[in-house]
Amino acid sequence: MSTTLPWGRRYLMCPPRHFGVLYEINPWMRTEVTVDSDTAFAQWERLVDALQAAGAQVEIMPSQPGLPDLVFTANAGIVDATPDGSGRPGRFVPSHFRHPERQPETAVDIDWFARRGWKIERLPDQLDHEGAGDALPFTPEGGRTVLVSGYSFRSDAAAATALSQLLGIPVRLVQLVDPRLYHLDLTFCPLDGRRAIVAPSGWDRYGRKVIEALVPEPLVLTEEEALSFCANSVVVGRTVVMPATPVRVGRQLEAWGFEVVECRVDEFLKAGGGCRCLTLALDVRLSPEPAGER
Ligand code: ARG
Repeated sequence: MSTTLPWGRRYLMCPPRHFGVLYEINPWMRTEVTVDSDTAFAQWERLVDALQAAGAQVEIMPSQPGLPDLVFTANAGIVDATPDGSGRPGRFVPSHFRHPERQPETAVDIDWFARRGWKIERLPDQLDHEGAGDALPFTPEGGRTVLVSGYSFRSDAAAATALSQLLGIPVRLVQLVDPRLYHLDLTFCPLDGRRAIVAPSGWDRYGRKVIEALVPEPLVLTEEEALSFCANSVVVGRTVVMPATPVRVGRQLEAWGFEVVECRVDEFLKAGGGCRCLTLALDVRLSPEPAGER
């Protein structure tokens, strides 16, 4: 049995009070489809319950009128909770959204983190990056954490390089090639120090090689499995909270010793988001700790 993920016990979430499909910025969104608000709320609360039952803490960011996608906190930015000796909770690099519809979210996200003492670090203005939706850490057993970064539809490759410099962490670039799998977190889900759920149908050839070299035991999804959004899962220790569980995928996870919890979030799938998109891990440590902090 491999060691569990060193992060994933604290999440930021935003209730869907103002959620809806009010514009179309990915192939799943159709403004003529209506969201059932009560169902959305019930599904979101069930996700909170499932994460807490698995042993995670959930912190809440208030929803805002006019920002229907604020619920997808994964896109708020990049969290680095590494202590720097100042007593601050860590660093937060806010997203630069590609689409104008989501750009006003950044001020709200900055405000939430700044008020709680997080140090705000900015990417160069001209670079787009959509936060943890497009960058997830993988820590190989006995190795150094790398930031796996997806680019093309929402984030620039140069933004991942800038992040890597800012945070002092190596980056691995993966080009996303399927518009239906427009964020990295629809194609990549780290499980522990050896394993990850991966959807190579969403990556370029180079990206496939990068992940092959990084992850010793991948759970490789077919294109159909990937389109169920099952890679968009939240891992809390050995519990995997999934928006959908293709039978083969559930069996493999269980064979590896994970407990699978299915949490339907169909109202959010209408906006192109699943369980992972609705959460932002607050306990991710990226940069090497300064001497004396270990
Ligand atoms: N409607 C949102 C968008 O298109 C969904 C975001 C999904 N988030 C994610 N991390 N994959 O931006």
